[in-house]
Amino acid sequence: MIKIAPSILSADFSRLGEQVRECLTAGAEWIHVDVMDGHFVPNLTLGPLVVEALRPLAREFGALLDVHLMIEEPDRHLEAFAEAGADRLTVHVEACPHLHRTLQAIRALSVRPGVTLNPATPLAALEEVLMEVDLVLIMSVNPGFGGQTFIPASVDKIARLKQMLTAHGLHQVEIEVDGGIGPDTAPAVARAGATALAVGSAIFNARATITDNIRALRSAAHSTP
Ligand code: DX5
Ligand code: ZN
Repeated sequence: MIKIAPSILSADFSRLGEQVRECLTAGAEWIHVDVMDGHFVPNLTLGPLVVEALRPLAREFGALLDVHLMIEEPDRHLEAFAEAGADRLTVHVEACPHLHRTLQAIRALSVRPGVTLNPATPLAALEEVLMEVDLVLIMSVNPGFGGQTFIPASVDKIARLKQMLTAHGLHQVEIEVDGGIGPDTAPAVARAGATALAVGSAIFNARATITDNIRALRSAAHSTP
């Protein structure tokens, strides 16, 4: 079953706990936390304090805190996020000149390492470190903001990543996709091989409840063409 990772960036922060509880009650397996520093991406969001605040809720439901670091020099902050309770730390290849070392540092903190790349970065940029990661995140928008339009070329990129992982015998590595995912785009990315969907605006919106939105996403992802 495909995992759903609600991206809290689109949540109502005045009711964050309540909304995350609804996601978890509706069966979300992971909670996606978007960390932005105003340098690597133009936007500024949140840090370890929010991860720490969500930890008891995630533990109560056995969910995983999936932390996406859109920051320069992530090495400086790995320990703080690990201490706050991050279960996975995903770093951008574009922000890590010593990517192999960074991934090993994450594992040394007993956190699952993830790696991601911007839409313009070719998959070749991470081929050498695939054996070091628990997850590859395919960005299907340029990172920085929620609510952007899905980039269609991401579907083929996911399929090529899946082939690459299979060729290396790395069948257990998760393929997460992030940006512009909703019931309209979920079927294609699921068919291409995505095992997890990070979803912001299609879960947290005024059109329907969080529960109904998660249900719609899941049934779309599992629909057959
Ligand atoms: C974009 C973030 C995403 C974003 C997804 O920089 O990494 O996780 O919040 O939001 P939607 O689903 O609205 O594109
Ligand atoms: Zn994200």
